[in-house]
Amino acid sequence: MYDAPVDLALVAAAAPQAGLLKLPRARPMTMITKAVLDLMQCAACAHPELGIGTRREPELVCQGCGERYPFVDGIVDMVPRSAVHKYRYYRTDTLLNLIAPLYDLASPIVSLLIWKCPPLRYVDMAHRAVGRSIGGAYVECPIGTGLVLGHIRAEHVAGPLIGIDSSWKMLQKARKRFEALGMLDRVTLMRGDPEHLPIRSGAIRSLQSVNGLHTFHERKLVLKEFDRLMEPGGFISGSALIRGHGAVADMILNQYERYGVFPMLRSRAFILTELREMLAYPRLQHETYGAVLFFSTHKPDSTPQTPG
Ligand SMILES: C[S@@+](CC[C@H](N)C(=O)[O-])C[C@H]1O[C@@H](n2cnc3c(N)ncnc32)[C@H](O)[C@@H]1O
Ligand SMILES: [Zn+2]
Repeated sequence: MYDAPVDLALVAAAAPQAGLLKLPRARPMTMITKAVLDLMQCAACAHPELGIGTRREPELVCQGCGERYPFVDGIVDMVPRSAVHKYRYYRTDTLLNLIAPLYDLASPIVSLLIWKCPPLRYVDMAHRAVGRSIGGAYVECPIGTGLVLGHIRAEHVAGPLIGIDSSWKMLQKARKRFEALGMLDRVTLMRGDPEHLPIRSGAIRSLQSVNGLHTFHERKLVLKEFDRLMEPGGFISGSALIRGHGAVADMILNQYERYGVFPMLRSRAFILTELREMLAYPRLQHETYGAVLFFSTHKPDSTPQTPG
């Protein structure tokens, strides 16, 4: 059983700011705009309507299967409870949760000294990706601590900015960052499984995945999911760590793999082949800085007609 459907338009209209639904909590104010709800679907059954639960704690409730998605510290948990037993990322999650407090400090240093990639490359890539979302919605998966998006004030784009990650600690840091930047009304943070993203098909204009692909077990499934989300003409960009581009980098990657973290790390050629296979878009652009591969591509405007 689940709560009766709530007319979100009515709830939003009744909210203090037009179109903005505020769910009160003791700690930070949780905000989810109607514009974001209109892009979302149930991560369990893909039903497009998510209502507001009527229990004391704020939550979204699928109007199809009844799955409940609670808000925790201002972040909506879009990993369905029915999927938890299948959730396979606990080793990676554990590591990322552990390093989250140090991530903002360590990641630019590690990028420069170990991966041999200038940290500003990520910021350049994010500027472009956010810019390409003009007139539509932007998704970053995984968002991590919001380190990259936090550098882009995104004042030039009006659309929703959605950050998805699996690590609570990373997401909590991201929430604090966007709160401090006064961007919580622009950025919606979700805990999610990249193989079952809670976003409707064809809803996203620009998607970015910074150093995420190498952390996903089923990379092909994730890429397929990214493709599903994209509008015709949409823009996908991202980066991934690759092997064979520096002895120190390879040594660290070997250690990750040895401990069951980031278990699908591969060469540049391997990842490019996978990207071409799963995102069968006409032009894939890529460049490599140290052990980091950057890629970008556009979904074709319309599916080519098969002759006959
Ligand atoms: C190396 S960090 C990159 C974070 C961010 N994109 C950045 O550049 O700062 C990898 C991120 O992937 C997330 N992650 C790892 N496995 C994941 C999974 N299965 N689903 C969602 N996020 C995942 C981690 O929590 C972490 O935040
Ligand atoms: Zn559902």
